[in-house]
Amino acid sequence: MMDVFEAATKRMEVKDYKDKPVPTEIIQKILEAGRLSPSAMNMQPWSFIVVRDRNALRMIGELSPTGKYIAGAAFAIAIAVNPDDKWYQVDTARAAQSMMLVAWSLGVGSRWVGGIERDEVKKLLKIPERLQLLTVLPFGYPKHSAKGVKNRKPLQQVAFLEKYGEPWSKQTEQTSQTL
Ligand SMILES: Cc1cc2nc3c(=O)[nH]c(=O)nc-3n(C[C@H](O)[C@H](O)[C@H](O)COP(=O)(O)O)c2cc1C
Repeated sequence: MMDVFEAATKRMEVKDYKDKPVPTEIIQKILEAGRLSPSAMNMQPWSFIVVRDRNALRMIGELSPTGKYIAGAAFAIAIAVNPDDKWYQVDTARAAQSMMLVAWSLGVGSRWVGGIERDEVKKLLKIPERLQLLTVLPFGYPKHSAKGVKNRKPLQQVAFLEKYGEPWSKQTEQTSQTL
């Protein structure tokens, strides 16, 4: 099993998936990672709808201008949230990230999709009116090598020591750039 540091630093967002089903036991583990995520006051404002039906995945792909590739995923998890909960976005983003990291550690890629016609997808999945569709996460075994270069700001630009603007040590910065 991959360690947490490796999963957190090496994981790439994946949008091309093999035509290969992901076993139910792995989906179950991914769901458990979401269910057991922490949330403010332990409110757990989320619901996870697993979509495996190919027609439904195609329809969601059509309803996702920036996530058409959902159509080719092995499955997707739609995350419905209670928007009355003050921290629903933070809590649910944490649950989503946990699910995506656990998936990655088990060889399954995924990608966050933001551009979704939410009202239409809500109807398709029978998500109650009072809930909001936060996102739909497609999952599947990566079609291509999932290794890649992370295009990120250097640590020097985002991490400071004690006070904003005070540089983190150069030695640590060099270490992070070799990751
Ligand atoms: C809130 C959010 C919305 C995103 N929306 C989309 C999207 O609509 N379509 C897409 O292909 N990727 C989407 N992404 C994925 C980002 O483009 C991706 O995380 C970023 O480019 C880094 O990818 P990397 O980790 O593979 O370097 C979204 C990511 C986040 C966090």
